Parts: sequence; structure tokens; C-alpha cells
Amino acid sequence: MTDIRKMIYGALLGFLFVLAVWFSIVYISACGMTFTCHKAVPIIERTPIPTLIPAGQSAAQPPAASGVFNKCEVSAVELIGAWVSAGSPETDPFPFTDAHGAPCEGTYAQDVQQLFVENSMWYAGAIGCVSCHNSELSARSGGLDLTSYEAMHMGAGRADASAKGSDIFGEGVWNRSSLYTILTTQGMTSTGHSADIAPNDFTFYAGAAVETPEP
Ligand code: HEC
Repeated sequence: MTDIRKMIYGALLGFLFVLAVWFSIVYISACGMTFTCHKAVPIIERTPIPTLIPAGQSAAQPPAASGVFNKCEVSAVELIGAWVSAGSPETDPFPFTDAHGAPCEGTYAQDVQQLFVENSMWYAGAIGCVSCHNSELSARSGGLDLTSYEAMHMGAGRADASAKGSDIFGEGVWNRSSLYTILTTQGMTSTGHSADIAPNDFTFYAGAAVETPEP
């Protein structure tokens, strides 16, 4: 009985001794004969911002003198109104007044056309007017094709001049035009225009400020 107990204790002690020797070997081989072992690999500090400038990117440049920002803040409906009031010229610049009352000038190609053609103009996710008002769908969209200057003015604004009363430009009288009526009284929907929805006017930057000579 006592022999068995001795054997168990002996085995346990032997095991602990072997364990101690093993850890000593590991410690000494890693840290030598010191008590201040700092041999772990230092943690690399990572910054969230890339610290290397990509080769293709040049250093920040001061704005070029010619690139001075002189566009005018204006409401989209007012800009179209100014264009219509000026007789909806195709290439000639037309005058308009910006949101702060300063005199400005715009052109159809640079400033007006995008309002009919581009998506997400009138509100985020909006489809452009031309998604409905094009030659293929004009029969269903008030006979109106807004895809180009010519199409817009053909048959006084309608592919089929007899489709609906007067031209969409109100013969140059903005607030009598159907363009004015639809833009200021109806909101755009996925199927057309609806008086139940607020109109979608918005302000953006267009045209260019007209230099007024110093008095
Ligand atoms: C989702 C399709 C759709 C979009 C987008 C759309 N329209 Fe229309 N539009 C219609 C339909 C359909 C009609 C014909 C029904 C009517 O006369 O109300 C119409 C009619 C019109 C008319 C004629 C109204 C009249 O009294 O004869 C004008 C002007 C007009 N749209 C301008 C625009 C302009 C400008 C835009 C963009 C800002 C635009 N539409 C975007 C579908 C659309």
C-alpha cells in the first residue's frame, strides 16, 4: 500500500521536475540568463491614413488664376424662365439674375439643357425629363420631345403641334407657358406630373457672373 503511494508521489514529483526543466530551457533559450525578457516583436502602429502619397498624385496645387469660380447661384425654374423670356436662344447668351440679385449670363448648351437631359437633377434619383419626353414616348408625354433644341422647338415645342394648345414656351411669356405651369405647380412622379406633389425646384450653380464696370 505505502509502496503504491510512494510510486504515485514519485511520478507526480518527477513530472513537475521535468516540466520545470522544460520551461527553464525554453526561457533561457529565448531570453538568456536575464530576468528582463523583452524579446517579443514590437507591435506595429498602424495609422488609418495612408502615409505614402500615391505616385500619380501631385501635391496640392493652388487654384489656377484662370479657374476662378464665378458661377451664379440660381433656382432651376428661374434659370429656365430667364431663358424663355429671352426668346429661348439656341447659342446666344441670355441674361439672368442670381439668387443674390447679381447680374449673370448663361447659355442653353451650358446651363439649360442639362436641366432637361440629366438624371438626378431635380431631386436625388429623379429620371431626366427626356426619359419620358423623347421622340419615342412623346405621344404619351404631352407630345413633347425635350431631347434637343430642335425637337423642343419643332411644332412650337411639340412633335405634334396640334397635340395641345399653345407652345410650351408661352410664345416667350414665361408665366403663361405650360413649362412654367408644370414646373411651378406640379411635382414629378414616376409616371408624369402630379399636382398632389410639391414642385421640385432647386438652386444650383450655373452661368457666369457678368463683370460690372467700376462706377
Ligand atoms: C415620368 C415621365 C415624365 C417625366 C420624367 C417628365 N414628364 Fe413632363 N409629362 C409627362 C406626361 C405623361 C405628360 C403629359 C400629361 C400632362 O400633360 O400632364 C407630360 C407633360 C409635360 C408638359 C406639357 C404640359 C402641358 O400642359 O401640355 C411639359 C411642359 C412637361 N411635361 C415638362 C417636363 C419637364 C420640363 C420635365 C423635367 C423637368 C418633365 N416634363 C419630366 C411625363 C413626364
